[in-house]
Amino acid sequence: MLPFAIKSNVHPTGSKSSPAHLLTCSPAHLLTLNAPTIRTAFAARFGSAPELTVRAPGRINLIGEHTDYNAGYVLPAAIDKAIWLSASPRDDGRFAFFAADLDAFFLSENDTPVFQQEHSWANYLLGVISEARKDGLYVGGLNVAFGGDVPLGAGLSSSAALESGMMFAINELYRLQLSRMDIVRLAQRGENNFVGMKCGIMDMFASVMGRADSVVRLDCRSLHFEYFPFDAPGYSLVLFDSGVKHSLVDSAYNTRRAECEEGVSVLRKFNPAVSSLRDVSPELLFKHRDALHPVVYRRCKFVVEEITRVEAACLALQNGDFSRFGVLMFQCHDGLNLEYEVCVPETNFLVEQARAHAHVPGSRQMGGGFGGCTINLVQSSDLEQFSSETTTAYRQAFGLDLKIYPVRLTSGTEIVWDNTKTQKH
Ligand code: GLA
Repeated sequence: MLPFAIKSNVHPTGSKSSPAHLLTCSPAHLLTLNAPTIRTAFAARFGSAPELTVRAPGRINLIGEHTDYNAGYVLPAAIDKAIWLSASPRDDGRFAFFAADLDAFFLSENDTPVFQQEHSWANYLLGVISEARKDGLYVGGLNVAFGGDVPLGAGLSSSAALESGMMFAINELYRLQLSRMDIVRLAQRGENNFVGMKCGIMDMFASVMGRADSVVRLDCRSLHFEYFPFDAPGYSLVLFDSGVKHSLVDSAYNTRRAECEEGVSVLRKFNPAVSSLRDVSPELLFKHRDALHPVVYRRCKFVVEEITRVEAACLALQNGDFSRFGVLMFQCHDGLNLEYEVCVPETNFLVEQARAHAHVPGSRQMGGGFGGCTINLVQSSDLEQFSSETTTAYRQAFGLDLKIYPVRLTSGTEIVWDNTKTQKH
């Protein structure tokens, strides 16, 4: 059982708190973390059954990387790895959280969410409470137990799943009557404003809005979205976890974001209609190349091309053209590596293994970058051989054991157990 991943976090003031590697312990007594074990952990900790248990999935992203905070398109899906969160209201207004994976407990001093240096994992839960309160929503005290099987540091958005699951549970327990999109936005705000990671909307959106056997294209400007059945007979999606995670990933991410903003502010001088990289065509970018710092130009070029790749990928999906889809995945990786510069030797190696393999139409590094997983589109008949060859090659090259996760696309955040009603799963 792998513990759930918590990113190292940076307080809005800039101070750094517990890095992810401190949070990797997994108590042996919890063999399988799922809805029943989290309910049991809750009852053991708080002395009564929780009012409800929520499942909030991790996510993959087929294509459209670093486009969400540039008002572009993304193509994510919720997966069969999740955080389970059991919760009940609490009378004294305080917040008591039990992280089953870490065997760690947090109790707030009073009814105000305050950023935690020591129990940094609690910030993902406190952040959404803080943001909901800013909107004038009533959120009282809470008892919460959570845990899951979203792998550590693999870029599968365990923190977004936790934030989404928490907001989903609060919405039910305090009858806030929020829509799913309201929940998505509050979860993102918790991460941006309380945790201090300036992520886009994709991860929370995928966790809350996922649909079984489908990917979803989100227009991050209009927030219009469309589901595409991922109907790929003969193909499998498999993640290769490099096991590598750069410790400066959050600050590098925020730097990339600032570089894109710099590009927009320069290009706006030539065309006032430009308010994000979504408004920039490849031609416009090229025309004003000399006005941009070379690094900023490279960042913008990747994003502008990646936005068009998502549209091309959706077309390929509709046409059942997985060769074309795969080519776009490889192109995405090359841009992430050479222009966005967020790849590491380990993920580059894994993608090159895929490229050399006849039955792997596409592969790329997935998520924010600097390690984590590659996502591979593989002909199912060759999955076993490809996996075992890559495992051997990876061990030889880096001395690391490759973790392999086949994924199934699932529905988004949902209540799996409601004590006041009947059990659903
Ligand atoms: C991280 C962020 C997302 C997105 C991806 C890159 O996962 O949380 O918002 O920007 O990186 O596509």
